[in-house]
Amino acid sequence: MEEKKNLIVGQSGGPTAAINSSLAGVYSGAKHYGIKKVYGMRHGIEGLLAEKIIDLDDTLDSTFNIELLKRTPSSYLGSCRYKLPKPEAGNEIYKKIFEILEKYNIGMLVYIGGNDSMDTIQKLSEYASMISSSIRFIGVPKTIDNDLPVTDHTPGFGSAAKYIATSISEIVRDSNVYDLKSVTFVEIMGRNAGWLTAASALAQNKFNDGPDFILLPEIGLDLKGFIKVLDNKLAEKNNIVVAVSEGIKDQNGNYISEDEGNVDAFGHKMLSGTSDFMAKIVKTELGVKTRAIEINTLQRAAAHLQSKTDIDEAFNIGFLGVKAGIEGETGVMMYFDRVSDAPYLSIIRKCDINLVANIEKEIPRGWISEDGFGVNEKFIEYAKPLIMGELSNIVCDGIQSHISSLK
Ligand code: F6P
Repeated sequence: MEEKKNLIVGQSGGPTAAINSSLAGVYSGAKHYGIKKVYGMRHGIEGLLAEKIIDLDDTLDSTFNIELLKRTPSSYLGSCRYKLPKPEAGNEIYKKIFEILEKYNIGMLVYIGGNDSMDTIQKLSEYASMISSSIRFIGVPKTIDNDLPVTDHTPGFGSAAKYIATSISEIVRDSNVYDLKSVTFVEIMGRNAGWLTAASALAQNKFNDGPDFILLPEIGLDLKGFIKVLDNKLAEKNNIVVAVSEGIKDQNGNYISEDEGNVDAFGHKMLSGTSDFMAKIVKTELGVKTRAIEINTLQRAAAHLQSKTDIDEAFNIGFLGVKAGIEGETGVMMYFDRVSDAPYLSIIRKCDINLVANIEKEIPRGWISEDGFGVNEKFIEYAKPLIMGELSNIVCDGIQSHISSLK
C-alpha cells in the first residue's frame, strides 16, 4: 500500500467484550506501519454510505486510551446489520462506497465482524477487482457465537465463555438455597451454534456440579422426553439448573421460541424467550418452582470479566490484519490456527474470504455427550485455554471505566 494512503476501519454485527481490542490492534498496527490517517466508520458500512466517518486520532491518541478501549465492551464505532447487494458494475451503492473511499484517500478497509460481515468484505473485494481498484479489504473475525469456519475460535468467544461459566456457577449456588424442588433455565445466546451455551460446562469443577443439563441447537429437542428426564432427575436431587441455547429447535428443526416474522437484514430470525417458554411448560407439567434467566446482552458486554487470552488475541489479530493489507493481501480474513492445547498456542494466519462468508460452524457431534444433554472432555480441552487470564481493572468511582467515541 502506498504510504500516503489512509486506512478506514468498521465494526459490524453483534458486539462482544473483545471487539474493541481488535479495533485497538488495527489502530496500533496502522500507526506502527506508518499509515498517517486512521478513520473509523460509524455504524459500519451503513454509516460509511452516509459518510459518517470519524478521525480516530481525535480520541485514541494515548496509550492510556488504547488500554481503556481494550477494556470497553460493545462496538466503540457503533454497528449495523446491513447486507450489501450482489456486486455488479455500475451499482449505485458500490459506486457511492468507492467514491467515499477515494475521497478519504483510503488504501485499506478493515472490517471487524462475524460471518455476515465477512459477506461485506467478500462483496467489496469482488467489486474492487471488477473495477480494478487497488483498495485492500481485510476481515478481522469476532463473535461471541464462535460459529465462523476455518478459524479455531473467534475473538469475543473466550470472554463471553468466561462470563457464562462464572455466572452459571453463581446461579447454581443461588438455585439450592431453599428446601424445595426447582428447575432454573438459563438462556444463552449463539443463534444456531451452541458453543457459548456449551461453555456453561466450564463451571463444573471441584466446587460446583452444575449445570445439570445443556440444551444445544445442534441436537433437536424431544420436549416430552426431556420433561421425563427432568422428572427422573428431580427424584434424585432438589434443584436443577439447565443451560439452554436461545436457538434450540424441536426435532423437526423449528425454533422452540421464535419471534414471529421478525428477521434481520441477513434473514436471521430474532430469537428470545426460550428460557421463559421452557420454565412455563415445566412448571405446568411437573408442578415445581421454575425460574427463567435470560442473560441477554450482559454476556457480550461483560468487560469486567474479560479473558486476557481473548483480549490479547483480539488485539494481535487486528494488528496483523493491517500487516496483511500492507503486504498486499485483499479479500482475506485473519484466523487462528491452534498449534497446541497445553501449553495453549495459536498462530494467526489469513484465508480466502470465500471460505468464511455466510457459513456457520456447529459443535462437532463427537464433542457432545452421547445423550445430547452436555459436552465431553474434547469440548472442555478446546474451550478452557480460551477463558484463561484476567486483565487489570481501570476503575473510576468504584466502577469500570470505558471510553466512548460519541461526542
Ligand atoms: O451476532 C451475535 C449475537 O450476539 C447472537 O448471539 C444473537 O442471537 C444476536 O447477535 C442478537 O442480535 P441483535 O443484537 O442484533 O439483537
